[in-house]
Amino acid sequence: MIKSLFKSKPALSLLSTDIHSHLIPGIDDGSQNLETSLELIKELQKAGFKRLITTPHNLHPKFGNNSDAIKKGIDELKIACKESGIDIEIEAACEYYYGSKFLEHIKSDNLLHINKFVLFEFSYQSEPINLEETIYELKSRGYKPLLAHPERYIYWHNKLDRYEYLKNLGVYFQLNLNSLVGYYSAPVQKVAKHLSQKGFVDFLGSDTHHSTHTNSLNKVFKDKNYNELLKNNTILNDSLVF
Ligand SMILES: [Fe+2]
Repeated sequence: MIKSLFKSKPALSLLSTDIHSHLIPGIDDGSQNLETSLELIKELQKAGFKRLITTPHNLHPKFGNNSDAIKKGIDELKIACKESGIDIEIEAACEYYYGSKFLEHIKSDNLLHINKFVLFEFSYQSEPINLEETIYELKSRGYKPLLAHPERYIYWHNKLDRYEYLKNLGVYFQLNLNSLVGYYSAPVQKVAKHLSQKGFVDFLGSDTHHSTHTNSLNKVFKDKNYNELLKNNTILNDSLVF
């Protein structure tokens, strides 16, 4: 009875840095306007984040996006945060789409990175080819390959040894927080738990595109899967310097 008089407090992230989101307005499938971007940033702040590295899709076949648009977008977003009184550290890198253009881009040695970590994603439909060459090209230039949401590539759900292979190649893994509570699907949640139990997770990200992602975070931070993951894995989010 007494309990019902008090609203339960929102759960907070135990991390202060989010490294994956789509907050620059109008350049990919994330926020489509500045007002929404500012709302999402406030939501992430309420969830406990104090530093955001936002990561628009780059080289993705669906979005005509490039590094110049990202740099311009983050400068404008920083100004808008300041003008709106939002006190948060925000920087941009990007989420590269894996493919031949990515390999060309690596060779041009002009990558948007987070302390040398280069975030990239695979197609959801087909398995990546030339993995070894791409990873080699990244590493030989001093970059650290960082795979976005490894748990979401369903063609590997029955090939769990592929994850071990990638780790042995020197690929870091960024898991999506919402995968831990089954936001995407039960099989994605299952693989997220597997990667967590193996101690394979290096970074966590909200992968915020819209408010349903930020709303779900409150559930994540109360979930036992989240606490177990933090116990079993060395999470590097807060060690980044920017
Ligand atoms: Fe993303």
